[in-house]
Amino acid sequence: MLKGKARIPGDKSISHRALILAALAVGTSRIENLCHGDDIAATIAALRQMGTRIERDAEGAWRVAGVGVGGLLPPSRPFELGNSGTSARLLMGLVASHPIRGRFTGDASLSARPMARVAEPLRTIGARIDRERLPLDVAGVYPALPRTHRLDVPSAQVKSALLLAALNVPGVTTVIESADTRDHLERMLALFGAEIAVDGAEIRLRGEAELRPQHLVVPGDTSAAAFLAVAALVVPGSEIRIEGVGVNPRRTGLFELLREMGADLAFENLRVVSGEPAADVVVRHSALRGIDVPPEIAPRMIDEYPILFIAAAFAEGATRARGLAELRLKESDRIAAVAVGLAAAGVRVEESADGLIVHGRGGAPLPGGATVAARADHRVAMSFAVAGLHADQPIGVDDMSPVATSFPGFAAALADLAAA
Ligand code: S3P
Repeated sequence: MLKGKARIPGDKSISHRALILAALAVGTSRIENLCHGDDIAATIAALRQMGTRIERDAEGAWRVAGVGVGGLLPPSRPFELGNSGTSARLLMGLVASHPIRGRFTGDASLSARPMARVAEPLRTIGARIDRERLPLDVAGVYPALPRTHRLDVPSAQVKSALLLAALNVPGVTTVIESADTRDHLERMLALFGAEIAVDGAEIRLRGEAELRPQHLVVPGDTSAAAFLAVAALVVPGSEIRIEGVGVNPRRTGLFELLREMGADLAFENLRVVSGEPAADVVVRHSALRGIDVPPEIAPRMIDEYPILFIAAAFAEGATRARGLAELRLKESDRIAAVAVGLAAAGVRVEESADGLIVHGRGGAPLPGGATVAARADHRVAMSFAVAGLHADQPIGVDDMSPVATSFPGFAAALADLAAA
């Protein structure tokens, strides 16, 4: 059983954004509890290449000496972004409105992911982008054009790329979302002193912004907490507390669904950390029931489907999810990865083009006795590690190394909970 307090990294989405805005402020920002995964290292390296000084201080916080909006220098080498889709898309936006050129490269998984969703709107402001997949070149332009962008894909990365570009565009850029995706950048832009107005789905940002350096504390990663929360739900006798978890309502879809499934999962000590809601998440082993997952919830839990499907495997009855075509475009095809892995572990699943039905086993241990392919995807790897915590025969994961992209301390965090 899992007991005690869990350690999780700082939120990955918020960490990327904190670094980028700090790099664009005039003066030195300090960031505590930054995520220390490889994806964040990729953003740090790219920002350094464009002239930002970023260092870790004696207390483990990060100090970022910003160059000011408009002050980015041309990078001398290609950006190596590894597995990080957020780095690629956000930094494409950043470069697009500066008079510099950047070459974007990544690993095989990132090089297969669609970039047209960012490239197309960035071309309308004047940037030149030569391809729709990495490796690609972005030739930024100054002054770029202030536009109104209506997004058809619900994507916080695309929204954020356009808002970051807008920071150096003279005039007002408008972004209209098709669904409410995570709003970390909008919240943080306000903290840094940008002129931003959010009116329902419409976001307006005045460019050539002067950003003031900040002292930020990054809340714990909602999406990392999700794995430990589900681990505690499915392992009998467990009770854990995950402190300081980000509970921005645009990220908490999974926790809401788990409660609907019967989870004993509570938010305690609600507070606000650097403009973001945070709480201690307390979770006890629970009997879960299968549910129908409403497709509208997807933007609020887009990264949590793999671990939701693991929870569903332990529930009584079927869990049905659809409207998830985007899941096939993540670090791996997550519908296929989970469907194949669960089937190998002895769980009955039905895969469709945009969804999955998982026939839960009512809390019984999974049969297991298989090795699952992580497909170079951190969230798939962690999901099956959790599944294996309550199985008759071991569930192997062929490669746990991708976990380092977002949650390098995952195995240690689980081991601590198991030892307590
Ligand atoms: C992220 C947005 C989401 C999410 C990703 C992080 C972000 O991607 O899947 O892990 O930080 O903006 P999309 O915007 O492509 O949905």
